Amino acid sequence: MCGIVGIIGGEPVAPLLVDALKRLEYRGYDSAGVATLEDGLLARRRAEGKLVNLEQRLKDDPLDGKIGIGHTRWATHGVPNETNAHPHFSDDVAVVHNGIIENFSELRTELKADGYSFASQTDTEVIAHLVSREIKSGKSPVDAALSAIRRLEGAYALALMFTQEDDLIVGARNGPPLAVGHGEGSMYLGSDAIALAPFTNVITYLEDGDRAVLTSSSLVIYDADGQMVERAQQKSVGTAFLVDKGNHRHFMEKEIHEQPEVISHTLAHYLDFAAGTSNAIDMPFSFADVDRLAISACGTAYYAAHIAKYWFERFARLPVDVDIASEFRYREMPLSKDSIALFVSQSGETADTLASLRYCRSQGVRVGSIVNVRDSTIARESDVVFPTLAGPEIGVASTKAFTCQLSVLAALAVRAARERGKITAEEENQLVRQLSEAPRFANQVLKLEEQIEKISRELAQVRHVLYLGRDTNFPLAMEGALKLKEISYIHAEGYAAGELKHGPIALIDEQMPVIVIAPFDRIFEKTISNMQEVAARGGRIILITDERGAAKTDMDTLETIVVPDVPEIIAPIIHALPVQLLAYFTAVHMGTDVDQPRNLAKSVTVE
Ligand code: AGP
Repeated sequence: MCGIVGIIGGEPVAPLLVDALKRLEYRGYDSAGVATLEDGLLARRRAEGKLVNLEQRLKDDPLDGKIGIGHTRWATHGVPNETNAHPHFSDDVAVVHNGIIENFSELRTELKADGYSFASQTDTEVIAHLVSREIKSGKSPVDAALSAIRRLEGAYALALMFTQEDDLIVGARNGPPLAVGHGEGSMYLGSDAIALAPFTNVITYLEDGDRAVLTSSSLVIYDADGQMVERAQQKSVGTAFLVDKGNHRHFMEKEIHEQPEVISHTLAHYLDFAAGTSNAIDMPFSFADVDRLAISACGTAYYAAHIAKYWFERFARLPVDVDIASEFRYREMPLSKDSIALFVSQSGETADTLASLRYCRSQGVRVGSIVNVRDSTIARESDVVFPTLAGPEIGVASTKAFTCQLSVLAALAVRAARERGKITAEEENQLVRQLSEAPRFANQVLKLEEQIEKISRELAQVRHVLYLGRDTNFPLAMEGALKLKEISYIHAEGYAAGELKHGPIALIDEQMPVIVIAPFDRIFEKTISNMQEVAARGGRIILITDERGAAKTDMDTLETIVVPDVPEIIAPIIHALPVQLLAYFTAVHMGTDVDQPRNLAKSVTVE
């Protein structure tokens, strides 16, 4: 997703803008730019590709000025090139924008009829011309901005700067997040607190509809109705440090290896290991009073939700509807006041997940969220927040957040089972003890990386891969396919193993490896039958199983990855690790940009 930043400071601002943009790189982008006021006049440098290109541009042709705005662009309208890179100018206005202006075509036509010419293919450029036209009609820059913003439809987080106004930035938020940072004699605007961490940790989070008028020493906020409002100043947590890769080649590799530790932190937050109970946190409701659970999320977070469906229904006998958020938000699912809606999101800013949450609130349903960014929009709009303690996840491909989401959901499923009287105190104690073993087993699995790296060389040679699994390994098969395709660009599909005969078996040949995720469990034999169907047609199988499964498998496979025998409740968490490592090493062999894969963003804050 795009990242935006604005600074009104007392020192040359161009290098500070680039520093802030570097902290937004993890969101994914394909071009970047900055603008400042030099002697009262707007000036900008932009570059296609990574920030190093913009830095070179600034080195070759420096920018002065102590006020500026900057942007990393993830293309929505217009190809990723310098012309379409932000900031966009009109005569006397500069703008940077994250989001989609849905009525931009209508506005573009209107402005062209008024004599404005467009230099870019972007929706964003209409904002600059709209504001400029309002200024030409006699309005002050602030009034012009407020008037023009009222014409915008769609999602936006934006920052505006004006000719001859060296102590004024106007910001606005409707959808994508936007935060104000309070400095000493300086003021900041950014897509999130991470961008502003080098300057301040005193943050004001803008709400949807807010317009912010910043000077170096003041902040005035108006709501969508133009009324002045107050928004709390708060200390941002956990973002003061610049996350680095340590001795790893990629953030994704580092984050895969952090999992034993962060799974342990997360489980310890929800489980009382000493007492063997699952009620370590206070909850505003009891699962005994809940008749249905609706869980909604996107991407990897959705696969965590899908796995949790099996746990809540099996252990707590609680019916669960699980849905991808882009479908849920329009499905208008009937929900009763005894339902609970849960939303799973690493970033806490995913537009479709946020919209689904707002639909549930509009239906009077209690809303909980499982998020990794504690002060995110989804967290702020939830009745109860269940944090994953994964720490900042920088790699676009979600890994440690996924296993921490599973850890939270498993702990909640055990709590629900206990509160609904479906398990005894002893059974709760046993499940809590089994969950407490997850970090140790995760550590053991990471020791298989040398074997997995070798297997990934095979995968790097193919163009199609099929993942199969049953029960909780079916969502995990889909997650494995997503991991592989999003960072190695190899086409991959995850399928329920039992569905093989209903179509996918037509795909089987020696060109397409089949990755089967099958720890030994009560349906293991069923999956073995599927593997025999694959082998009988020349398919090459990579089996991910455990020691009991390996002992029971008497057929040829291309490779078998054997993880320790683990209890059912933690199997998906443990089997996620070889799945992640396979994707990671394959992408490394493919030479792709593992941490920032093409076309992808870490947080999809637009529909
Ligand atoms: C996962 O590897 C992807 N990066 C993507 O599917 C991601 O899980 C999805 O966009 C949801 O993001 P969220 O968890 O921040 O809501």
